[in-house]
Amino acid sequence: MTNDQTKHLAASLDAEEALLPFVPHLLQDLWSLGFSPEAPLRLLERNLHEAPQHVVDLGCGKGALLIHLAKRFGWHGRGVDIVPEFIAEARRYANDWGVADALDFEVKDMGEELAKGGERNLVLFGFDSEALGELQEALARIAACVALSGHLLVDLAWARSGHSADLPSEAQVLDSAHAVGLRLVDREMLDPAWVATEGSRHVELIRRRAKELAIRYPEHSAAFEAYVMEQEAENQLLTKEAHCGYLLFARSGQKAR
Ligand SMILES: C[S@@+](CC[C@H](N)C(=O)[O-])C[C@H]1O[C@@H](n2cnc3c(N)ncnc32)[C@H](O)[C@@H]1O
Repeated sequence: MTNDQTKHLAASLDAEEALLPFVPHLLQDLWSLGFSPEAPLRLLERNLHEAPQHVVDLGCGKGALLIHLAKRFGWHGRGVDIVPEFIAEARRYANDWGVADALDFEVKDMGEELAKGGERNLVLFGFDSEALGELQEALARIAACVALSGHLLVDLAWARSGHSADLPSEAQVLDSAHAVGLRLVDREMLDPAWVATEGSRHVELIRRRAKELAIRYPEHSAAFEAYVMEQEAENQLLTKEAHCGYLLFARSGQKAR
């Protein structure tokens, strides 16, 4: 992994770089590493009436969303993630759920996946680091790889008005998308109470694993504790200062910049 990839990976997982080797252990009890697949499933079911031919999930983690799409709608797809342990888990879940033939998972940088060219009918992307650049640049790079009739599903958090969180505003998100030739089709915002409960559940699962690791590696115990605290702080930020949700975009017909 290059230095930049490591930096972006650490940001996307809210971890210090030194802790990255332990992250698969810390996250072993979670399948979905972002929000639950239910909201995006509702959004896609409401808006996409034909199975997209080429679905790609950039930073698919352990494949939770793609596996649900394959199981629920019979869609085929491909997921890439830079963490080999996550891809191994994605393949295992796909087998367990009986959808391994419909899905292809690969350890790969998302930028390299886009650079290989081709047109996708549906791209799934969580904006949680600058692995593809700042928001507008990331959207532009993805939009350039979406077929004219295709869609982009983005999960992200934006700052609630009046809050100075280190997050973009709703207007910045929508303006950035518009500027690169994307039109908002529909959205599914998450209930803050649900985000809080689900976030706390995740933190408790992580805390248990952090305690295990602190016994095995006492020299890193402060770092494990700091990781749990960082997850708690992230949870507070998402529940109190942000709106979290899924936005479905279509190509607007104008050329993506
Ligand atoms: C917050 S997690 C979300 C995972 C998944 N989308 C989900 O909802 O379960 C972000 C994911 O992006 C992956 N990631 C970070 N940088 C990446 C890169 N440069 N290329 C591919 N994947 C990357 C991480 O390994 C992680 O699995």
